[in-house]
Formats: sequence, C-alpha cells, structure tokens
Amino acid sequence: EKVSFDYGKAAGFISQEEVSYMEKLVEDARKVLVSKSGAGNDFLGWLDLPVEYDKEEFARIKKAAEKIQGDSEVLVVIGIGGSYLGARAAIEFLRHGFYNNVSKEIRKTPEIYYAGNSISSSYLAGLIEVIGDRDFSVNVISKSGTTTEPAIAFRVFKEMLEKKYGKEGAAKRIYATTDKARGALKGLASEEGYESFVVPDDVGGRFSVLTAVGLLPIAVSGADLDKLMEGAAAGRERALNQPFAENDAMQYAAVRNILLRKGKAVEVLANYEPSLHYVSEWWKQLYGESEGKDQKGIFPASVDLTTDLHSMGQFIQDGSRIMFETVMNVEKSRSTIKINQEPVDLDGLNYLAGKDMDFVNKSAMNGTILAHTDGNVPNLVVNIPEQNEFYLGELFYFYEFACGLSGYLLGVNPFNQPGVESYKRNMFALLGKPGFEAEREELLKRL
Ligand code: PA5
Repeated sequence: EKVSFDYGKAAGFISQEEVSYMEKLVEDARKVLVSKSGAGNDFLGWLDLPVEYDKEEFARIKKAAEKIQGDSEVLVVIGIGGSYLGARAAIEFLRHGFYNNVSKEIRKTPEIYYAGNSISSSYLAGLIEVIGDRDFSVNVISKSGTTTEPAIAFRVFKEMLEKKYGKEGAAKRIYATTDKARGALKGLASEEGYESFVVPDDVGGRFSVLTAVGLLPIAVSGADLDKLMEGAAAGRERALNQPFAENDAMQYAAVRNILLRKGKAVEVLANYEPSLHYVSEWWKQLYGESEGKDQKGIFPASVDLTTDLHSMGQFIQDGSRIMFETVMNVEKSRSTIKINQEPVDLDGLNYLAGKDMDFVNKSAMNGTILAHTDGNVPNLVVNIPEQNEFYLGELFYFYEFACGLSGYLLGVNPFNQPGVESYKRNMFALLGKPGFEAEREELLKRL
C-alpha cells in the first residue's frame, strides 16, 4: 500500500500515448531536479530532508515538544504561508477532527492555535480571550524573520508572556524557528535566549514542512515524527528511483501538464474528508507559488466535498470548461458509523440500514467523479491508504517532487516567488516605513 496516482478516469481526455510522449521530458526534468542543475537549484534542500535531516535538532524538537506538553495548556503557533500551512495541514490530517474542542483526556496534548496568518485585530483579540489565564507557550516561525504578519502577532504574545511569567519565564516559553544567522527574529532569539530551531538556507518556505517549521508544532500535537519522516523517505525513494511508468509523482506532473496544454488552466483539488482541508491549503501554496509566474501556470483551487457540491458543484459540473479535478481519496476511513434500521422509514433511509457512513461517502465520491467526467472535467485521483503519519509523509513528498518536475516542464523557476514582494512594498510605503518615502507619495496619489 502506498500513496498513488491514477488518471484512469481521465482516459477520455488523455491517451496513453500522450502520456508516453511526455516520458522523455519528465525524465529530463527529474535529472535536472535531482542533479540540482536547474533554475532555483540553491533551494533544493527539501529533496533529501527525509534522509539527511539534522538528527541532533530532531531530538531537540522532540524534547521541546515534551516540555511544551508538560507546562502548557495552549501552544500558539505564529507564522504565515510556508511557515504555517504545513503544520496545520499535518495536525488536522493526523489528529482529532475537533482537536481543540475535545476533552483533554481524549486529546492528551495542548490545544494549538495559529496566529500571525492575518493582520486581523479581531482574530487576535478573540484568540487572547480563548487563552484566558491559562499557561501557554509560543512557537514563532519565520524564515526571513522579518515578515510583518507574524512579527506583529509575536510582539503581542511576547508582551503577554512577559507580563504573565516575567522576562526570564517568558523566554523559556518562546521557541523561535528561523534562519540560522540572519533576520530580526534570529537577533531577538539570540538576545533574549529563546530556544531556536533552524530553517535551512536551501529549503524555501512552502517546502519546509519536514523541517522544524512543521515538525515542532506537529510533535506538540502528539503525532509521531519518526513515522512521518519514514513515509517521506519512502516517497523520496520511489520518486527518485522508479521508472516513469510506475512513478506516481512523474505521472502526476506529466498529466497535469498535458491538461494545461489542452487549455485546462485551473486544477481543483477535492477532498471528501474535512480533515484534509488544510492539506489543500498547503497544496495551493505549494503549486500556486511555484508555478504561477512569468504569466504562466495552472491556477490551484480547492473544494471540500460533499460540502461544496451544494455550492460550487454547479460550476464544476456545468460552468466554464477551464478546469480539471484531482480527488484525494482516503481509502480507509479513520472511524466507522453504522446507519441503523428504523422501524418506520420516515426519512426513507432504510435502504442504507447496516451500511457504514463511509460507504455513502465513497459512493458520493465515485458518483461525482463520473458525473464531473461526463461534464467534461477530467478527474484524476490521488489515493491515500489511510490517515496516518507514514502516508502523510509520503503524500507531502509526492506533491513536492511532482511540483518541482511540473515547474520545470512549464519552463519556470519553481523555487522562487518574486511576485509576493509587490504587496509588501506597497504596504510598507503606506505604513510609512523608513526607506519607502518615494513610493508612498506615488501610492497616496493613486488612492
Ligand atoms: O513560501 C514562501 O516563501 C512564503 O509563503 C513564506 O513562507 C511566507 O511569506 C512566510 O515567510 P517567512 O517564513 O520568512 O516569515
């Protein structure tokens, strides 16, 4: 059993031959990626992370997680983009569906909340109320150490911690994940004596889930880091070594590029498990930031099903034919709920009596795949045997590797993100940040 890719249902849109024509291109892309000879090659540290991670730091992450579990009822994870989405995706995928709401007896680990992923004061004020006077710790995560959203949130929580525990006590509850030498956060961490973890130079934000960026919050949630890395290592082994015909990541990269060339400019990632919502958010950043540049790329979108079949379903079935759909199919559900027989069949559901709810979910999925296919939306499937650490590690690696290949097939540098700077420059200018005076004048005229 493994995470696998299947485009069988899209046979009406893509022939075997077309896929085989891509073989040479994808093989070349893999060579360029693995030999680190292509664009963005100074950001390929993620390729070997599952086997070459810093073991000393890995052990320190586990120790820090145990300390947080022991002395905190709440962990606040501060970060945005690549310094946020991977941890949240993993915790929601792996742990209880109502993680923060379920009783401590069931959860056993601290509640985990996220901050610094917006600039909303209402959100932050709400979170402060949720924490109340309970013991808490903070993991502030920023590779650059200078990102505005997390920096503002951190100022607020740092002050709260210092008021509550004193400067020294606060320092023992702040964990900083950042660059090993550069940035304001690194300076602050060294100055104040926070325990620090490193975002390696050669790992970009959206590829950093298997570094301390993702691993510390994931460990605090009680998930098994060793299994996660083992799964990623298994995914890596296959991605690097299997031939094209059996290589799921290569096939996915090939097929989505074939579809793009046929005018399918949007990929909708669909799940049938609410706990996969943030895997889609993580995936959107991974693909959107890696491929959307130089006026090219597939727009990554996502839906939660069957929920969104009652909102976006109409468009997918019948609207502009610009998209293909990739369904994440969790083969074995985490829980079973049986539908029971009722003496009087008032709701008309007795025909399902004795069946598990997941049977209904899978029937909805299979029916929808066929309906959307009939509506001219090619459907691809990513099979996930079950929701555990091993398969999540495999899934992360599968998507990351396919993303690198796909970017090279598209002819872009998948590992930079020049476009994210534009809004920052404008925001700094409007805020009156020193050094942005000229831009400020220009922008104020336009507002
Ligand atoms: O992928 C990226 O590079 C971005 O999404 C960053 O992760 C995000 O902007 C946060 O940056 P930083 O970790 O430097 O605060």
